[in-house]
Amino acid sequence: MIYELNHVGAFVTDAEKSVDFYTRILGAQIVREALIPSTNTKCIYVQMAGGMIELLAPGDVSSRLHYGFDHVAFMTNSLDADYEKIITAGYTPFVAPKVAGSGHGRLAFLGGPNGERIELIERDETYRKPEVSSDILSFDHISLLSNDVVGAEKFYTEQTGMATLKRYYLEPPRDLTMVYMNHGYDVLEFLHKTEPQTGDPIGHIALRVDSVDAMVEKLSGLGVVFEPGSPKNAGTGLGRVAVFKGPDGEKIELVDRNDLREV
Ligand SMILES: [Fe+2]
Ligand SMILES: [Fe+2]
Repeated sequence: MIYELNHVGAFVTDAEKSVDFYTRILGAQIVREALIPSTNTKCIYVQMAGGMIELLAPGDVSSRLHYGFDHVAFMTNSLDADYEKIITAGYTPFVAPKVAGSGHGRLAFLGGPNGERIELIERDETYRKPEVSSDILSFDHISLLSNDVVGAEKFYTEQTGMATLKRYYLEPPRDLTMVYMNHGYDVLEFLHKTEPQTGDPIGHIALRVDSVDAMVEKLSGLGVVFEPGSPKNAGTGLGRVAVFKGPDGEKIELVDRNDLREV
């Protein structure tokens, strides 16, 4: 059974640069470091508030074309059975259950309903620590681009045990359905437009702060460049939002509304 949404995985070109960015700029803590010897890939888990990002830095940068967010990972206590059940239900097999490259536990990969890469992990430790305190009050959500929002809700409910938390619809010209699903602390956001969308299946992560405007000022002082138009009022009418990019172009959103799990 899947019991936790554990992390969003990101491939990074420079481990030191990314660790510096997440720890020094965003106040994350390193909660685990490992090496995948076969590809000489450094694997560093950083935690912000209660949520984790897995930074994967391959020894040979030219070994990959795409850097940035790569997958969402779930913990399970029955990897083989869960993988089998999901594949039998018609989802795409990527990597059959095997011993993890780091040697810690076993894992598998498969394709979700919107082309997102999903990792299933079975191991003794989740690596998660008690909440890390910093300017980041909570790891608000991981956002997935969703051309099939019905398929997404079906998959994440039936196959991963997530529950639908919130649903918003923004009228045209935005024409955007936003569905939030959670597994305990961790939340996925699905963004759906009537017009098909292209781009990375994992669009951004969102971090909740006390004041977006104050945080923009603070981070700008540390050299962070925000996207034009940031900060601005959120499309939902709840609070403010600002957008910037991590070292490998991964999109990060700051929000300052109430905690999604309490709105
Ligand atoms: Fe992962
Ligand atoms: Fe978002």
